[in-house]
Order: sequence, then structure tokens, then C-alpha cells
Amino acid sequence: MSLLVKKMGGRLGARLEGVDFSRPLTSATLEEIAAALYAHQVVSLPAREMTPEQHVQIAQHFGDLELHATDQFAVDEKASHITVVDSEAGHRADSWHADETFLEEPPLVNVLHGKIIPEAGGDTAFRSAAAAYDALSDKMKVLIDDLHAVHDYGHLYELGWRSGIPLAQAMGEALSKGLLHSHPLVRTHPVTGRKWLTINETYTRFIEGLPPNEAEAILGLLIAHLQKPEFGYRHSWEEGDLLLWDQQAVQHYAVNDFEGRRLVHRIAVLRSAATYKGIKTV
Ligand SMILES: [Fe+2]
Repeated sequence: MSLLVKKMGGRLGARLEGVDFSRPLTSATLEEIAAALYAHQVVSLPAREMTPEQHVQIAQHFGDLELHATDQFAVDEKASHITVVDSEAGHRADSWHADETFLEEPPLVNVLHGKIIPEAGGDTAFRSAAAAYDALSDKMKVLIDDLHAVHDYGHLYELGWRSGIPLAQAMGEALSKGLLHSHPLVRTHPVTGRKWLTINETYTRFIEGLPPNEAEAILGLLIAHLQKPEFGYRHSWEEGDLLLWDQQAVQHYAVNDFEGRRLVHRIAVLRSAATYKGIKTV
């Protein structure tokens, strides 16, 4: 069986049709989903009948599954790798990021199942960090290729605190967890071979090794560059959608513009030792 792949955006995004969740998923189907994901960076498919076991099976195809590094989300008792992201429990996010880039090895792939979707709004927006890198001038690529930046979980709370939300204590607690890591600004995707920008405004605190005025100017320039609409794709959820994205190619933004409830089940895939053996990533 071959899946139907429909491109949804110019640079990223595709819709897959033809997965039959009433039967066991074959390895050929899993391979087709993976090939589409790496080609299009973000893929969705209708999956109203998908079971939690099939959700886990699809995610495991990409690597080892994560138990969330922070304590933001309730964990579904029946499947400990599935975290429940529920707007009624206060789980809303409205900033550009790739997940948990403050870790030495952030998650590779996200696999989300839309269980309750609001009537309007609540989209997930994406931008391709690979397309953004490609579009930089050759001189800018030379300038940033050897730079590193510190990513810090506490930065998320600092941004809220600076905006007037009383998060000073939460920021201190986040910092005390030591969840920070230095990453190269540019990495090469181990599957596709494409280079991509790792920096994001939620977790990236500063570029190392430069005077602060130079570092802040370069970081601001790259963040502004990432905003260009031609690097973007926005997924409007249908109830039952399965949505996968490649964390090494794209950044995401959960648009907090909806009324009513939005509940999705999330599985994050960590680095697979088998797939990435021998590849230097830090
Ligand atoms: Fe996220």
C-alpha cells in the first residue's frame, strides 16, 4: 500500500492519506510515514481510530521515547510516554521554540494526537530552521558557522517575569535545576544532511565568545530572519489528526487564540543510539 502525499506548504508541510488504523501497522507503512516526515519536515494524517498503542508504535519507529524532562504536564497513567497537553489544565504556549533545547540532546521528533480540538483557532504554526539557514547569504553563513549559544530553561520564565508575570521564584527554581546547554548555532541533520539554525527566542540566552553588543545583534538578526513567512506553515487541526514534526528541521508555536478546550496527546522521541551512532552532535 502506498500513501497519498499532498504538499501543504511551499517549503514544508504535507498531508498523508491512506493509513488504515483498523489493522496492525506494517513496517512498510511506518517507513512511508518516516520518509514523508524527513522530506516535508511536518506531516499530518487523519487518525481518528488510532489507538494509544499505535501512537507509541509510530513514535518508536523514530527512536527512544522520552519521559518529559520537566514537570509541566500530567502523564496519562495508561501509557507513561504519552503526556497530556490540556488547555483546561493551563497548558498553553505562545512562543517560538523547538522543544527542550536546553538539554544536551533535545527530542528529535514530536508525535501529537489531537483528541479535543476547538471549533476555531488553536493552530500549530511551524517555521523551517533549515529553509531559514539555506536563505542566509554565504558571508553570514561563514560568520555563524563556528559560533555556539547557551540554551537555558530558566530563560522561558525570565521572559515572563520581564513581561510583568510574577515568575521570579519559578525562574530561580528553573535555574537551580541546571537545565542549560551550549549548542552550535548551525547543525547538520543526520538523516537529510541539511544544515539548520538551532537558536530560538524561548530558550537561547546568548551567543558565546563575542562582546554582548555583537552577540545580541547577531542573535536578534537571526531571530528576525526566522520570522519570514516563506519559511512557515500553519496546521489547522481536525479532531483525530496525528501531527508529526522533525525538531531538527522546524520550530513551532502553539497559537493561543482559541475559546473552549484543546487537548492533545504528545509523545517526544529522543535520540536513537542505533540511528545516530558515530555522529557528533554537540
Ligand atoms: Fe513545544
